[in-house]
Amino acid sequence: MCGIVAYVGPRDAAPILLEGMQRLEYRGYDSAGVVVSNRGLKIRKVKGRVADLAKVVPARFKGTVGLGHTRWATHGVPSDVNAHPHLSADERIAVVHNGIIENAGELRAKLEADGVEFASETDTEVLAHLIAKAADENDTLEEAVRKTLKSVVGTYGIAVIDAERPGEVVVARNGSPIVLGIGEKEMFAASDVAAMVRYTRQVVHLEDGELAVLKADGFHTFASDARETAKEPLTVDWDAGHYDTGGYEHYLLKEISEQPETITRTMSGRLDERFHVAHLGGLNMDARETRSFRRVKIIGCGSAYYSGQIGAQLIEELARIPSDAEPASEFRYRNPVVDPDTLYVAISQSGETYDTLAAVQELKRKGGRVIGIVNAVGSAIAREVDGGIYLHAGPEVSVASTKAFTSTSLAFALLALHLGRVRDLSPADGRRIVEGLRRLPGQIEEILAQGDKIAELAQKYAKHPSMMFVGRVRGYPVAREGAQKLKEISYVHAEAYPASELKHGPLALIGPDMPTVAIVPDDELLDKNLTTLGEIRARGGQVLMVGHREPGAKLADDVIVVPKNEIELDPILLTIPLQLLAYYAAVALGRDVDKPRNLAKSVTVE
Ligand code: F6R
Repeated sequence: MCGIVAYVGPRDAAPILLEGMQRLEYRGYDSAGVVVSNRGLKIRKVKGRVADLAKVVPARFKGTVGLGHTRWATHGVPSDVNAHPHLSADERIAVVHNGIIENAGELRAKLEADGVEFASETDTEVLAHLIAKAADENDTLEEAVRKTLKSVVGTYGIAVIDAERPGEVVVARNGSPIVLGIGEKEMFAASDVAAMVRYTRQVVHLEDGELAVLKADGFHTFASDARETAKEPLTVDWDAGHYDTGGYEHYLLKEISEQPETITRTMSGRLDERFHVAHLGGLNMDARETRSFRRVKIIGCGSAYYSGQIGAQLIEELARIPSDAEPASEFRYRNPVVDPDTLYVAISQSGETYDTLAAVQELKRKGGRVIGIVNAVGSAIAREVDGGIYLHAGPEVSVASTKAFTSTSLAFALLALHLGRVRDLSPADGRRIVEGLRRLPGQIEEILAQGDKIAELAQKYAKHPSMMFVGRVRGYPVAREGAQKLKEISYVHAEAYPASELKHGPLALIGPDMPTVAIVPDDELLDKNLTTLGEIRARGGQVLMVGHREPGAKLADDVIVVPKNEIELDPILLTIPLQLLAYYAAVALGRDVDKPRNLAKSVTVE
C-alpha cells in the first residue's frame, strides 16, 4: 500500500508528480503529499485525496526534482503531519516510503535520546533523520542511504532527495516495489509504471536489496554492499489509455465491461484445437514433470483465494488431482508441511500481496515447486515463482477485483485442461472444454447486456442491511466472491455459506430483512438447490436466484438467467451478475465505488 513517485529532469516536477500520484491512488488514499527541491525543499501535505492536495499546491511551486506520496495509514492516523514526505529536522532530507519499518520504535528511541524531535507518529520519519545524519558523514547521498538502510529492519520502497544535492533522487527497494522509468533527459521512479507510462514505457524493476541513483541524464543501480548491478530496461505493454476510465463512470464498470476481451487475452494463443490441450509454456515444465504431481495446493488472499477455490474444483474435476485452496495469509503462519509431490499455485493480481509473497518465499525455502497466476508482469510474486501463467488482463485500477478474478478462474481452466490432458482427460472432454472456453466471451456479452435489469434489482436489494449468499460446490466460491464484492464496495453486510450448511445454523438469520442471493447452476445439484430455495421462502426470506432457468415464482422473487456453458466453466459466468449487482448497489447507496473506505488495492503489509 502507499504509492510513491519521484521525478528528476528539466521540467517542473509538481504537475508530473501529482498526475502520477493520482494514478497510484488505488494503493492508498487517506493522505497525500509532495515535495520539490529549489534552493531548499518546498513541501505540501494534506489529509485526503490527491485532488485535495492539488488545491493547496501553489502555482509557484517550482522545482525540477521532487517526490510525491499517497498514503494508506499503518503507523499513525491519517493526518496532515503523518502524510509523507517526511523531512529531517534541518529540512535538508525528504523521504517518501511504502512499507513498514519494523524496528522504527527502537530507532526512534535512540534518535530521541540524541535530542531529535519528531514531527509525526510515522515509522518513516526515522529514515529522514537517520539519512540526514549519514548525509553529514558521507560524500554522496547514495552512500548515506545505503548505510542508513543497514540499520533498518522491515519492508520499504523509498525515494529520497537532499536539498544540498539538487538534481538527484536516490531510491531503494526491499519488499515494496520500485520501478524506474527512463525518459528523454529525465528519469522517473514509482511504485508502479502507471505513474509514468504517459512519459515513458522504458522501465527497470529494482530487486529487493537494490538501490538506484537517478539524475536527468541517466541512472545507476547498486546492491546493498555497494557493488554496481546491471539492469536491462523492459518495454511495458500498456499506455496511458489503459489507465483511463474510457468514458465509463467508474473504473469498476469499465473493468467489468472489459471481461469479454480480457478473458480472450488470457486464453489467446494457449488453446490447441488439434489435441484439445492448453499450451502453457510459462510453466517451464515438461510432460513428465507435469504428470508427476499428486496434489495441487493453491494459495492467495481475498478474491484471489476465492478464484483459487474455483481453480481447485476445476483441477479435481478435469485432472482428477486432489486440490484445495487456502488463504495465503493463513498458510504462511502455520508452518505448512511442504511436500515434493505437490504443485503449489500462488495467485495474485498485483503480484505484490505481502502475505502471498511471504508464503511463496516460505515454500521456496522448503524446496516446494511453486507456479504463479499473476496479472502484473515483472511483479515481486511473478519473479519469485518457478514459472506461471500471466493473465494479460491489463491494469486493474478499481480497488475491487473483477476482471482479474475471471481471468484467474479462466487460467485455472487452462491449467486443469493442461494437467488433465497429460493424465486421463479424454480428447472428447478436452474438446468439450476448449469449445466451452471459446464460447465464454460471447456469453459474457449476453450477461453484460442485462446491466439495466441488474441495476434495478440492486436498487431493490440494497435497501436491506444484510444479505446472504449461498451456493453448493461449484456455486460456493461464486457465492463467496459475490458477498465479498457487495460488502467491499457497498458496505452492505453480506455472508456467504454453502447452501447445504444453511440448515446447520445460519437459517436462523433468514427473514424479511435478510434476502438471499442463491447461485443455482443447472448441474447435478439443481434439485438440492431448489429445495434450499423452498426452505428460505418458507421462512419469509426473499430470494434472488442467479442460474440457468426460471424456477417459478414459488421459489424465487427474482431471477437473473445467465447463459449455460460446460458445468465446470459455469462459475466464471455466474460471477459476472454478482459483480454488476455489487456495482449498482454501491452506486445506489452513493459509495465511492473505486476507492472503498479503509481499503487499498495492493496489500503490501502483513
Ligand atoms: C477483492 C480484492 C482483494 C484482493 C486481495 C488479493 O475485490 O480486491 O480481496 O483480491 O487483496 O490481491 P492480489 O490479487 O493483488 O494478490
